[in-house]
Amino acid sequence: MNRLLPILALAAGASATLNNVYGRGGQMSGKSQGLQTRQSGSSGYPAHTFDQMIDHFPNSSRYEPHTTATFKQRYFFDDSYHKPGGPVFLYIGGETSGESRFSSLETGIIQIFMEAFHGLGVILENRYYGESYPFNDSSTDNLAYLTTEQTIADNAYFAQHATFPGVNATLTSSHAPWILYGGSLAGAQTTFSLKTYGGDGGILWAGIGSSATTKAKLAYTEWYDPIQKFGPQDAVASINAIVEKIDRVFATGNATAVHQMKAVFGLEALESDGDFAMTIAFPLGGPMNYPTNTWQELNWNSTYGSDDFWHFCTNVTNLDSPENITQVDYALAQYTDGEPWTNLGNYANYIKQYLIPVCDGAPINSVLCFGTQNQTFYADTTNSASRSYLYSTCTESGLYQVARPYGPSLISRALQVEYTQQWCTWAFPPGTHNAIPATPDLEKYNIYGGYNVSAPRLAHIDGAQDVWLDICYHSNDAPPRYSTNPEDAYLHPQLLISGAGHHWDSYGILDVEAEPQFIRNAHLWELRIVEVWLRECEYPDFMNAVGRMIADNVG
Ligand SMILES: *[C@@H]1O[C@H](CO)[C@@H](O)[C@H](O)[C@H]1NC(C)=O
Ligand SMILES: *[C@@H]1O[C@H](CO)[C@@H](O)[C@H](O)[C@H]1NC(C)=O
Ligand SMILES: *[C@@H]1O[C@H](CO)[C@@H](O)[C@H](O)[C@H]1NC(C)=O
Ligand SMILES: *[C@@H]1O[C@H](CO)[C@@H](O)[C@H](O)[C@H]1NC(C)=O
Ligand SMILES: *[C@@H]1O[C@H](CO)[C@@H](O)[C@H](O)[C@H]1NC(C)=O
Ligand SMILES: *[C@@H]1O[C@H](CO)[C@@H](O)[C@H](O)[C@H]1NC(C)=O
Ligand SMILES: *[C@@H]1O[C@H](CO)[C@@H](O)[C@H](O)[C@H]1NC(C)=O
Ligand SMILES: *[C@@H]1O[C@H](CO)[C@@H](O)[C@H](O)[C@H]1NC(C)=O
Ligand SMILES: *[C@@H]1O[C@H](CO)[C@@H](O)[C@H](O)[C@H]1NC(C)=O
Repeated sequence: MNRLLPILALAAGASATLNNVYGRGGQMSGKSQGLQTRQSGSSGYPAHTFDQMIDHFPNSSRYEPHTTATFKQRYFFDDSYHKPGGPVFLYIGGETSGESRFSSLETGIIQIFMEAFHGLGVILENRYYGESYPFNDSSTDNLAYLTTEQTIADNAYFAQHATFPGVNATLTSSHAPWILYGGSLAGAQTTFSLKTYGGDGGILWAGIGSSATTKAKLAYTEWYDPIQKFGPQDAVASINAIVEKIDRVFATGNATAVHQMKAVFGLEALESDGDFAMTIAFPLGGPMNYPTNTWQELNWNSTYGSDDFWHFCTNVTNLDSPENITQVDYALAQYTDGEPWTNLGNYANYIKQYLIPVCDGAPINSVLCFGTQNQTFYADTTNSASRSYLYSTCTESGLYQVARPYGPSLISRALQVEYTQQWCTWAFPPGTHNAIPATPDLEKYNIYGGYNVSAPRLAHIDGAQDVWLDICYHSNDAPPRYSTNPEDAYLHPQLLISGAGHHWDSYGILDVEAEPQFIRNAHLWELRIVEVWLRECEYPDFMNAVGRMIADNVG
């Protein structure tokens, strides 16, 4: 659920300006490996490839016509902490390239585990992301094998057959315990993998789903709730009130008035009301993609996040704006019985000063900027992460970010399910053997258990202020989660981190003791549950060695 993507056109590879904004992680330097890398501060692991089956379900009518072909699935590993008998920590790549997950091995949660347990860490790039595409283009037919079911089968098959060149050990899942970790969509894939391929006698020994977005829904209005509740309330109040007035103007159906309103933001070129509503929502998080950082990109350590959201808020509530900006608050007062739109000038000024320039001069209504009403563009079958992600959204998971039907809203009610669904319809016309459903087939995703997905040695860890919380295990819509059975606390572990956002436990700084208290204690909890899991396992080459290592570590 990393929605920090350039707007779609730019995701396909256009703008250097945007790459600077988004380029944290993701560099492809690929030289050295492991500890020296970490200490020298340079970034990179060489890519290895694995012959992965395109179709794991030769008997399922869902994948007809079947193929026995394979594709090259990429993986990256770090063996610098590994000792004979050590476990394998598999970081699930999710909806991005393997390279953009390197920090998990270098400084993040996998580094923490590898160091503590002498494990080997490996990132597996998901099918249809990075350079792990089964086909040269992503036509609707070629996307038929991009399903949750096939994706999690990759994880199990990889664990059974993986090799690690240069490592003097057999580390397939029958020789060593495999412990999965994933955050967000990858977290959901981790939980579904454990549910399907875990348990005693299973292929995968254990897993941690962090902010695992396990529940599919068509409309996900709750995305904005943490911002409503925990955002700076002066800015929140202004935005709620402005959005309410915007919707009043839309409701008049007066084209002149609507045009005038768009022009206040410098967005009169946007013909679609949805495109306008989405664009002014970008600093908060527009549907699907957004070009600047939002609440979701805050982080406990600013190295891994961005403070754009706070800056947006202080722009909106700026008390020192010049008169030519504050006067804009009256520009649309004629539509609200003379009542000014408090902080409209500040909001509009932010859009003009900091958002429109990301288009680098491209026409505002084009797909190179904020226009999305271009069927030809969506129908382009070139492989890309944004196209793969859209396909999964359209076929299985939904979660369209739309406005609530009533009550305060930080985004305009012009943003409804239809606005997102149209992209699906344009992008994926029926092929000869595959077609997308009219709306996402949520059952394909929820079949693993939704909020309640459960398996032995599957941990759920969430952030209390995460925008995706309400589709995770600790959702406000799920039963209250209590821990009452001491054994269950390791067999079905769960933790909700106070004050945390989206999979904040993924990140580390090579010094757990120096972390802020709730993150530090989340990491210490994760170390305890992994230790219990490792003490319990009975792999032939494994148990004595690791029993001894853990004792050494403790001592
Ligand atoms: C598919 O069906 C064949 C024939 O019935 C069977 O031998 C095979 O095990 C099945 N394969 C899977 C993956 O279920
Ligand atoms: C895909 O592209 C590669 C490299 O251009 C080419 O070698 C390969 O034959 C293509 N495969 C198909 C199925 O078109
Ligand atoms: C590989 O490991 C085995 C068993 O631990 C050991 O006997 C052998 O010497 C090792 N080989 C190398 C090249 O390190
Ligand atoms: C629409 O708004 C314009 C500009 O405020 C106004 O002049 C016009 O009378 C309105 N039209 C209707 C039908 O209310
Ligand atoms: C407005 O936002 C910009 C861009 O993030 C930031 O540099 C600036 O300090 C903010 N201004 C105020 C008054 O908060
Ligand atoms: C406000 O006035 C300043 C100084 O004259 C000018 O630089 C700025 O562009 C004006 N802003 C707007 C929104 O008109
Ligand atoms: C629509 O998208 C296509 C493909 O990206 C592009 O060639 C075309 O110029 C776009 N049309 C408009 C009106 O932006
Ligand atoms: C989750 O489990 C609870 C009982 O533990 C049950 O009431 C609820 O219906 C379940 N929810 C789903 C989505 O399965
Ligand atoms: C943030 O992370 C950087 C890089 O790991 C580290 O140098 C810095 O000390 C961290 N700051 C805090 C407050 O954790």
